[in-house]
Amino acid sequence: MTIRIAEGGADITSDTNRIAQLYNTSFSEHILVQRRLLNDPTYLSHHFQNKDEIWVVEECGEEIRGVAALSLCLPIGLGEIERVCVSKDHRGKGISLSLCDRLVEEAKNKDLGFIEAFARGDQPAMQRTFEKLGFKVYGISPRFEVMHDGQVVREQFVHMGLLLKPDTVDEHAMHLLPAAEKIYRVIHQ
Ligand SMILES: CC(C)(COP(=O)(O)OP(=O)(O)OC[C@H]1O[C@@H](n2cnc3c(N)ncnc32)[C@H](O)[C@@H]1OP(=O)(O)O)[C@@H](O)C(=O)NCCC(=O)NCCS
Repeated sequence: MTIRIAEGGADITSDTNRIAQLYNTSFSEHILVQRRLLNDPTYLSHHFQNKDEIWVVEECGEEIRGVAALSLCLPIGLGEIERVCVSKDHRGKGISLSLCDRLVEEAKNKDLGFIEAFARGDQPAMQRTFEKLGFKVYGISPRFEVMHDGQVVREQFVHMGLLLKPDTVDEHAMHLLPAAEKIYRVIHQ
C-alpha cells in the first residue's frame, strides 16, 4: 500500500478518473457528488493543479482505495483537511488514518500552525481518525437542514483542530467575541 500525491491527466486510467469513480461509488451522499463535481474528472484536475491544495491517494496495486485533500492558506498558516473518502470495500483498515497522517506531514512541511477539520456529526470513524492524530474538538455546530433535490438534508459538524505551533499564538493580542472568549477559556482551562 502506497500513499502518494494525486496526479492530473485525461487518460481513462488517470488518477482523476479513478478518484471521480471512487467518490461516485463511495461518497454518493455528498452534496458535491450529487452536484456532479467531486465525481467530475475535469473538476478534480483543476483542483489538483491548484497550488493551495494538496491531494493524496492510497493505492494498492492498480486500485485507488482512498483520497483526501489539504487546503492551504499559507499567509496565515492555516490548513484544512477535507474530502476524505475510503472505498466502501476497504473501510475498517485504517486507510483514512494513513491519508490524514500524510496530510499532517505535508502541513508541517509547509510550516502551517494549525490544521482544521470539520467532521460530520454522523461520521464517528472520521472523528476517531482525527482524534488518533491528536486533533481536539473545538466546537460542535447545531443541527441544521437544507432542501436539496426535493429532499431534506440534515447536517451537523464537529469542528476539530490540530495545533502544530502553539508558541506562535499571542493570546494577549487576540480580540475574540465574548461568546468565543468563553469557549476558548473552557478549552484551555
Ligand atoms: C469516514 C471514512 C473516511 C473512514 O475511513 P476508514 O479508513 O475506513 O476508517 P476506519 O473504519 O478504519 O475507522 C477509523 C477509526 O474509527 C473507528 N470507528 C469506526 N466506526 C466507528 C463507530 N461507529 N463508532 C466509533 N468508532 C468507530 C474505528 O474503529 C477506527 O478506530 P480504531 O483504529 O481505533 O479501531 C470512511 O468511512 C468513508 O469514506 N466514509 C464516507 C465518506 C465520509 O463520510 N467522509 C468523511 C467526511 S466528514
